[in-house]
Order: sequence, then structure tokens, then C-alpha cells
Amino acid sequence: MESYNRGWLLLVGILVALSVPYSQAFWGNENKINTAVFLSPKFVLGPGSVEDRFYYNVDFPKGHIALKSFNAEVIDEAGNPVPLHETYLHHWVVARYFVRKGVDISEFDDHAKLNSSDYISGRNSGICPNLGQFFGLGSETRKTATHVPDPYGIEFGNPAEIPSGFEEQWMLNIHAIDTRGVEDKLGCTECRCDLYNVTVDGYGRPLRPDYIGGLLCCYDHTQCKVKRGFEGVRRTLYLRYTVKWVDMDSSILPVKVYIFDITDTWKRTRNSTGINAEHQCKVEYDIEPCHSTGLGDDGCVDNKRISLDMPFGGYLIYGVAHQHSGGIGSALYRDDGQVMCSSLPTYGEGEEPGNEAGYIVGMTTCYPQPGAIEISKGDTLIYESNYSSIKHHTGVMGLFYILVADQLPKPMHTLHTVIQTQGTLSLLTILWAAVAMIGAVAVIAVAFHYRLKREREDGYEAIGI
Ligand SMILES: *[C@@H]1O[C@H](CO)[C@@H](O)[C@H](O)[C@H]1NC(C)=O
Ligand SMILES: *[C@@H]1O[C@H](CO)[C@@H](O)[C@H](O)[C@H]1NC(C)=O
Ligand SMILES: *[C@@H]1O[C@H](CO)[C@@H](O)[C@H](O)[C@H]1NC(C)=O
Ligand SMILES: *[C@@H]1O[C@H](CO)[C@@H](O)[C@H](O)[C@H]1NC(C)=O
Repeated sequence: MESYNRGWLLLVGILVALSVPYSQAFWGNENKINTAVFLSPKFVLGPGSVEDRFYYNVDFPKGHIALKSFNAEVIDEAGNPVPLHETYLHHWVVARYFVRKGVDISEFDDHAKLNSSDYISGRNSGICPNLGQFFGLGSETRKTATHVPDPYGIEFGNPAEIPSGFEEQWMLNIHAIDTRGVEDKLGCTECRCDLYNVTVDGYGRPLRPDYIGGLLCCYDHTQCKVKRGFEGVRRTLYLRYTVKWVDMDSSILPVKVYIFDITDTWKRTRNSTGINAEHQCKVEYDIEPCHSTGLGDDGCVDNKRISLDMPFGGYLIYGVAHQHSGGIGSALYRDDGQVMCSSLPTYGEGEEPGNEAGYIVGMTTCYPQPGAIEISKGDTLIYESNYSSIKHHTGVMGLFYILVADQLPKPMHTLHTVIQTQGTLSLLTILWAAVAMIGAVAVIAVAFHYRLKREREDGYEAIGI
């Protein structure tokens, strides 16, 4: 009899746990995360070749959603992950735009050709005018945590934000360099102009004489120098990206995306406000080798710092930096020197995808306790990016990507308050609550198991500053 009862309770418990409205009231959205895996359009690379293309109207979850994570990797036609020493993923970037309904934007490959009356940028919240993306990483893609903690999410597809007559779409830019058989792998990944035999940029404009490496020398269809006699087949590749999201509802607090760039030339002036238009972000810079500067006492660390006044306020929810090979760490500080968030590179040590020696295969992230780090409008932040200057580097980057929330989560509804708000404390309510409690325990167990699994799969153990 007793075991019969327990079985019955368990069954009802599971049913309750599965009934979304009820379990949601207790446990937010943990139990209804959607996952989709998409492939980018294919791109074909041979030894030394470069692809840097902009794909419009790529696959993305539809509807009014809150994004929870965005992960990606380069794979071959058989679906096998491709290591960075074969295909170097310089960067990928995912940006939003709004297009007039009926206009087929996928036929345009060049966004300059778009009629501006049909196309509206749907950029992030700031602060560099030329860095409007919502997602994007480089070689560190495989081992960098991107999940947005509960109860937060990055909101998309809000009908109230989509201009009337327009629809929301997504652009994916992938910049990949095939370094199989090249003379100088690091040189090719750092886009050294001599290795690409390039004297004009992608628009045919002559390069400055002192421009010796960077994005202007490894644009789409350029070719890095390959060892004499090296034969390698051209192969078809994809960026496979995995998106997790929940349907938007009032229990989810939206976060805004901001990106800082260490090359930002912004300076405080008497009437500066720190808004986007005042920022000029050059995206890349060079590292002069310490032996040429003759200064040994800096320990051969290139330490670049900028100070920025925040044109926004809110609570820091997540932060991650982007650096290239040679990078040794990055951080945001308050102007009194207190660390707000730091992000350090992880270098690979082997050959296999996700652990390629000499490459940054992951960046640590920061997930402050809710409310622990508040930014007020007008605050001055110091952004620091460190590189090793033992070697000369060209075209390195220093970006810092943060998520900021306007609100802190309200305390969760407890069983107690749920029962109280029901008014009468009938026997049925108590029974129902007991049943729900068992269901909830089952949900927690499943969620905990899932989280452990996810942590192992995503290499989250390396993260946690
Ligand atoms: C852009 O579209 C508008 C109206 O749709 C049209 O009048 C204009 O000529 C177009 N401009 C270009 C450059 O195609
Ligand atoms: C480099 O470019 C120049 C001019 O475009 C060309 O004449 C020369 O053959 C190229 N060198 C190599 C090694 O490809
Ligand atoms: C102040 O703002 C005006 C207009 O917004 C601008 O023209 C001027 O250069 C600014 N002055 C300084 C010192 O930035
Ligand atoms: C950057 O380098 C400076 C000077 O070596 C050091 O004091 C600082 O802690 C470093 N910051 C990070 C984030 O690694």
C-alpha cells in the first residue's frame, strides 16, 4: 500500500513537473531551454587562402526570444571539427538588421550595395560605432563560456522593436585563413602584408607604408605564402553554431550588449558624453618587440590601458575579452583600481581541435554575483589589455564584451507565498503543493544533472573568475 502511494505520488509529481505553467511558477525557465544547431553557408579553402564573407539572412531562432548561449566551431564536410593550425578562425561575427519585407537581402553580398531605405541596422547597445555585433569570437570559440545566467537573456524578435513593414534578420561574417603548408603560420594568422604580397586593401586603396600587417592585408580571396612544393586539397568547411534560447516572458530580465575596444581613441572633453558617435575604434594594433624598445624592465609585457566614461548604467552580468596569440590577459577596473572583471586566455597544448598549441583556445569569463558590480552612468572605467612583447605582433585585438542588466532579479516566489496568495488553505491545496514539491525536486535533480553534464562538455571547469 505504502509503495503504491509513493509510486502514485511520484507519477503525479513528474506530471506536475512536466506541466510547464506550474513548474515555471516555481523554477523560472530552466526547464524549457530550446536548442538549435545551424550550419553557415559553406566556404571553400585551399592552402594559404582566405575567406572573409558576409552572409545575410542566416538561420537563427524565430519569434520573441531570450538568447541563453551561442557557441560555434569550424567543421568539415563530414562534420569533423577542424583544428586551428589547419583553418585559423580569425573571427566570426553575428549581427542583426531589419530589412523591408519582400526585399531579398541574401542576393546582396556587399552591404554597401544595399538601399538604405530597405535596411536598418539592429546593432548592440554600444559603444563602438563599427562593432555592432551581438555575438562574435575568434580562435577561442571552442572553450569560451557564452551562457547568460538565469534569469537573464538577450532579447530578440520583440515585435515592439521591429520597425513596421520590416523583419528582423541576421548577418554572419566569417573570417578564416587556411594555414596548411604555409611558410609562416603565425605570420599568416597575423595577416603580415609581405606574406600576402599585398600593397592595396580590399577596396584597392594603397596601404600606408608603415602598415605591415593586419586586416587590410588578409581580406577575402587573398593568399598567404605557401611552402614551395606543398600540395593540399581545397576543402569545404562550415561554421556550425549552436544557439540556446527560451521564449521571452516576464520572468526573464533582458541584458544589453556593450563592446569596448582597446584601440578606442576616445578622450574626455568638456562636452563629451561618451556616446557611441564619439568613439573611434580602430579594432587592431601592433605589438613592438621588447628587444627593439630596449626596455627590459617591463618584463616584455605590452600593457595598454584606456579610460572610458560610461554612457549607460546597470549591473554587470557577464564579461569576456577577445585577444590574439601573444595575449596574456585583459581586465576592466574602476578608476580607483578595483577589478570589475578580468578575462585571461587559455592556450592549447596539443594538436587536436580545442587544444591547439600556440593558439588561444579559450578565454575565461566573469559572472559577478547579481548586483555585486553596478555601473553608474558617467562612471570612469579603465580597460587594460596585455600582450607579451617578446615577439613582434601585427593586427592583434583587444575587445571587451559585457552584458549589462537594468534590473536585479526579484526574490523567487516560495511555496509559502504561493499558498498564501491562493487564499484558502484547503486540504487540496496542501496536497497539491506537496505533489508539486516532489515534482520540483525531480526538476532540480534533472537540472543539476544537466548542468554538471553541460559544464563538462563545454569545458566550464577552466572558467570561473
Ligand atoms: C532606394 O529605394 C527607393 C524607394 O524604394 C528608391 O526611390 C531609390 O531610388 C532607391 N535607391 C537606390 C540607390 O537604389
Ligand atoms: C607579388 O605581387 C606582384 C604585383 O602584384 C607580382 O608581380 C609578384 O609576382 C607577386 N609575387 C609573388 C611571390 O606572388
Ligand atoms: C562640443 O560639441 C560641439 C557640438 O556638439 C562640437 O562641435 C565641439 O567640437 C565639441 N567641443 C569639444 C571640445 O569637444
Ligand atoms: C597587465 O600587466 C600589468 C603590468 O605587467 C599587470 O600589473 C596587470 O596585472 C596585468 N593585467 C592583467 C589583466 O593581466
